Amino acid sequence: MAILVTGGAGYIGSVVVEDLIGKGEEVVVLDNLSYGHTQAIGADVPFYEGNIGDSELVTRILNSYEIEACMHFSAFAFVGESVEKPQIYYQNNFVETVHLLDVLIKNNIKKFIFSSTCATYGEPQYVPIDEAHPQFPTSPYGWSKFMVERALIDYDAAYNLKYVAPRYFNACGATERCGEHHDPETHLIPLVLQVAQLKREFISIFGDDYSTPDGTAIRDYIHVSDLSQAHILALEYLRGGGDSQFVNLGNGGGYSVNEVIEAAGKVTGKNIASKIAPRRAGDPSRLIADAKKAREVLGWNPQIPDIESIIESAWAWHLTHPNGYGS
Ligand SMILES: NC(=O)c1ccc[n+]([C@@H]2O[C@H](COP(=O)([O-])OP(=O)(O)OC[C@H]3O[C@@H](n4cnc5c(N)ncnc54)[C@H](O)[C@@H]3O)[C@@H](O)[C@H]2O)c1
Repeated sequence: MAILVTGGAGYIGSVVVEDLIGKGEEVVVLDNLSYGHTQAIGADVPFYEGNIGDSELVTRILNSYEIEACMHFSAFAFVGESVEKPQIYYQNNFVETVHLLDVLIKNNIKKFIFSSTCATYGEPQYVPIDEAHPQFPTSPYGWSKFMVERALIDYDAAYNLKYVAPRYFNACGATERCGEHHDPETHLIPLVLQVAQLKREFISIFGDDYSTPDGTAIRDYIHVSDLSQAHILALEYLRGGGDSQFVNLGNGGGYSVNEVIEAAGKVTGKNIASKIAPRRAGDPSRLIADAKKAREVLGWNPQIPDIESIIESAWAWHLTHPNGYGS
């Protein structure tokens, strides 16, 4: 039996593919390479270049492999872009996912693991944020993910689709082979490392007057390998007949922008220049996960919670891949 991984040429998907293969699982990757990198997929992993909403292609894959479950990472994930171009976000993240789900259901594949996000919560009403926190996203990106979550609830009720939908906080870090190469890059740690690599003059700190100890915003950073382990546990959980679940994936702590910059300076031994910029609309002061449920339901136990170890892994990858996956 094989696992269909959509978005397996992307950052998080490629790490999960690597770990699934390491566990002896059979994997098939579907990615349209809109943002993915073929170099991120192991040479021996069957790879189909195409769109998740291409029902004919997905049917062909399902006819060629005995697919047991689908891990669905593919999406567009730039919050700012989603505000300017909501149409492509609703189309790619929601409509295409519904097409994918329909083909899976038609072929009786009823185990589904979906990359959701803390962006479905919107402005936090309290922290740490647990799964019962109200969901009112502040961007079309967040809504597009929320709409998939809603569809999953209804598909479970009507078609018995069983899902685990992890809501990631800030994914970061790297394995030896797979790292973060987004273009454009919007995530703090790779941007800070670009300053260390002299690819960027300085890092902008968006707001230093938040109600946090050092005035900069606090986020919950979670190592991509810890995220990956949660997906493998989610697969086991569904195999064991577990019920559908939404679970937060974060460390339950948080680091401020200043703390991340300081840690990156320490890890890289470089001076990380920074400049204060105005706050960005919709950026909350703190986003911290309450991830008790993932620990209880999945038996998840993140191994790399401290920011220096996370940055060390990312820095090691950037040193061996100075142009990311580019030549
Ligand atoms: N990176 C984070 O911190 C973070 C946080 C919360 C949630 N997420 C979610 O996790 C998932 C993976 O994120 P990532 O950082 O690895 O992103 P990524 O852009 O690196 O990977 C996404 C992959 O999906 C592919 N893709 C996009 N649309 C597709 C389509 N219609 N058909 C086939 N392939 C398609 C892209 O080519 C890319 O390889 C996304 O769903 C994202 O919304 C990420």
